[in-house]
Amino acid sequence: MSLLAAATEVREKAYAPYSRFKVGAALRTSAGTVYVGCNVENVAYPEGTCAEAGAIAAMVAGGETRIAEVLVIADSPEPVPPCGGCRQKIAEFAGQEVRVTLCTTDGKQKVMTVAELLPGVFTAAHMDRT
Ligand code: THU
Repeated sequence: MSLLAAATEVREKAYAPYSRFKVGAALRTSAGTVYVGCNVENVAYPEGTCAEAGAIAAMVAGGETRIAEVLVIADSPEPVPPCGGCRQKIAEFAGQEVRVTLCTTDGKQKVMTVAELLPGVFTAAHMDRT
């Protein structure tokens, strides 16, 4: 299944009663598996989770850790960008060159790399003192 079809389908399952903004995310791993996630809100607002976080959690639970491609979709006037926290979450498992496709439900798309989404990413190397 294409990442666009997978993300579009899972977006319908989003639990977003507070923002009413449903988001779907799909990622393909280096092994070729597709994992999906949707946003899951909570009445205690900060406890809500993003679609990208859900897809990443599903990937790790599936025993994989290398992202080859990501796609995010929402009913947004412009292609929906991952939030700052999700950019760091994606960068944990994706190379700088990995493509992230930002989509709207009415067909607009914008392709960016992880490097473009998160310049100056914090990495494990920043904790190296020796
Ligand atoms: N949201 C995502 O799931 N992913 C994004 O990339 C942007 C924002 C969700 C979080 C919240 O449930 C709703 O969209 C409004 O912020």
